Amino acid sequence: MRWWDIAPVLDLERALFPDDAWSKGLFWSELAHARGAGANRRYLVAVDDTDRVVGYAGLAAVDGTGDVQTIAVAFEHWSTGLGSRLLGELLTAATDFECREVLLEVRVDNTRAQRLYERFGFEPVGIRRGYYQPGNVDALVMRLTLVHPDNQQGMPHDSQG
Ligand SMILES: CC(C)(COP(=O)(O)OP(=O)(O)OC[C@H]1O[C@@H](n2cnc3c(N)ncnc32)[C@H](O)[C@@H]1OP(=O)(O)O)[C@@H](O)C(=O)NCCC(=O)NCCS
Repeated sequence: MRWWDIAPVLDLERALFPDDAWSKGLFWSELAHARGAGANRRYLVAVDDTDRVVGYAGLAAVDGTGDVQTIAVAFEHWSTGLGSRLLGELLTAATDFECREVLLEVRVDNTRAQRLYERFGFEPVGIRRGYYQPGNVDALVMRLTLVHPDNQQGMPHDSQG
């Protein structure tokens, strides 16, 4: 993801996270940490065959712990495997950053996203009460331990068969 992707990303962001969409400034701030010396973010976009942005994802890495900051796919591309590809790329980035584990928060009512994370081996480790505002929705905290650099990252545990 580069700065010129922020406008189309924001369109998707507002459609997919209507209650708590990130601001333009937040994306700029995240991208500022994604390049140059000391970069500790990896942000990517997925584009369709007309170069339209149809998905995006971002990871932050601090002291050996990765954090999935965001992941989203345009509704019309759901269930095509794109979410899995984006998450796989984030886990590759986590290994590049030498992370030992990756954490994320997900709304307790977002079972679709939870299934995606579980397929990659993430496990629930706690609840953050009222994490999502407004709405006072709890977050489920999930964790994936990356024991070895080649620890099945990018490979869903329950393959499509
Ligand atoms: C969560 C989200 C990123 C998942 O994206 P996605 O592209 O639908 O993810 P996938 O296609 O990889 O997986 C979804 C389903 O499609 C299935 N699938 C995966 N690859 C497939 C393929 N090639 N063909 C058909 N189905 C496939 C998966 O098995 C999965 O099935 P399930 O619903 O039984 O779990 C997407 O729904 C989204 O953007 N949601 C709104 C934003 C959001 O909630 N983000 C997470 C915040 S924590």
